[in-house]
Amino acid sequence: MSQHIVAIDQGTTSTRAIIIDHGGAIVSVGQLEHEQIFPHAGWVEHDASEIWNNTREAIGQALSKANLTRHDVAAIGITNQRETAVVWDRATGKPIYNAIVWQDTRTQHLVDRIADGDVRRFAETTGLPLATYFSASKIAWILENVEGARERAEAGELLFGTTDTWVLWNLTGGTEGGVHATDVTNASRTLLMDLRSLDWDDALLEAFGVPRSMLPEIRSSAEVYGRASTHSLLREVPVAGILGDQQAATFGQAAFDAGESKNTYGTGNFLIVNTGEEIVRSEHGLITTVAYRLGDEAPRYALEGSIAVTGSLVQWLRDNLGLISSAPEVEKLALSVEDNGGAYIVPAFSGLFAPYWRPDARGAIVGLTRYVTKAHLARAALESTAFQSREVLDAADAGTDVPIAELKVDGGMTANELLMQFQADILGIPVVRPAVAETTALGAAYAAGLAVGFWESRDELRELWREDKRWEPRMSEEERERRLRLWKKAVTRTFDWVD
Ligand code: G3P
Repeated sequence: MSQHIVAIDQGTTSTRAIIIDHGGAIVSVGQLEHEQIFPHAGWVEHDASEIWNNTREAIGQALSKANLTRHDVAAIGITNQRETAVVWDRATGKPIYNAIVWQDTRTQHLVDRIADGDVRRFAETTGLPLATYFSASKIAWILENVEGARERAEAGELLFGTTDTWVLWNLTGGTEGGVHATDVTNASRTLLMDLRSLDWDDALLEAFGVPRSMLPEIRSSAEVYGRASTHSLLREVPVAGILGDQQAATFGQAAFDAGESKNTYGTGNFLIVNTGEEIVRSEHGLITTVAYRLGDEAPRYALEGSIAVTGSLVQWLRDNLGLISSAPEVEKLALSVEDNGGAYIVPAFSGLFAPYWRPDARGAIVGLTRYVTKAHLARAALESTAFQSREVLDAADAGTDVPIAELKVDGGMTANELLMQFQADILGIPVVRPAVAETTALGAAYAAGLAVGFWESRDELRELWREDKRWEPRMSEEERERRLRLWKKAVTRTFDWVD
């Protein structure tokens, strides 16, 4: 029997192929970054063709590093940056415009027009506020701005997908019979799906002017969608799991049941609290989303605190300010000083997402004096991740009788000890990292593995979760409250910045 699963993690900054064995251990990783394209302030694009080429190459790298072939692979799982919209020509397989990334805010005017003064207009149906973050307005922008796109879409010549769909379609044959499908978690981020029926909603399609014919079929998160094409290194291997990356991380943390949660530290941060079969609405700025659905089972829902900018602030320090030459250096620089020197950075680069949902906000550095050095700014950058996470955790706790007692964390930035200790300090609860911090890939592999019988049950997967490290809070209550008060004051300084 084939002893491995390949997880493809199509993320915001890179695409990875990760080979996972039956014990849930990582055997090898192939990874390629893709270009971040910023044509104007607030615009963020990716070249979807580059992403697909990178996907193929990452699979090749991972297989060759592990000295494995397709015969060793039981199934493929896909996980992805969510919301990012790709529109392509069904006949040629070529995108008609760059992918518009989830962080992109160009469609604010369109969103305002549709909201007509009420951003919660479709929240009952979708679980989401009207915001540029979600896919719908990005599709509408492409249809309105690329010459001939609307007519071609209406004639059935164009296809839309989030990047899971783009990868699936290409992997299963592209123009030669590629499967055009997505899973419920990704569909729940488009602003076009009804959370209850798990189908595209006609009123929303009309509001955004999106023809149904261009949309993928919505399937569960764990089933065989198709097989890798004969042109692929993994030919004939079933593609059997799809989860948006934050839902995948939740699944990979074995947070399968109501009340279980995780916080992922990536480009942005995303806290997810599983609410089981119940659709829970937040009055404190969290969104309602699908957590996962295995085959024909009832879907599981979740509340989510989405934070747009955390890890990408460190990249900004590196690429735009040149304060550091590599991302991990930020920890060393931050450690060279005792504290933030009074400086606070609020990285409202795409407005503020949860819990504020303020598209009019823009980033600010406040509290500056001659005393402040780049080391203080490095520290303030890391602290902003912890403060933002505290605010979404408070929002989650506000809606429940059972507050989160300890925070399960994962993602690249959890390697940063300084940040993890500060996170525990600012939350006042322990922070716990699992042995395999690559929970996103793990979640996609788990879904695919369950679909093909590689693993039997969620209980079996739960057994694979191991604690690696735990940080206990050390800061006094008084100090914690003082810093949080300053942080909240800094946040208010970012509001109302867009003319
Ligand atoms: O909603 C956006 C999220 O899915 C992106 O995740 O890890 O690519 O920053 P990441």
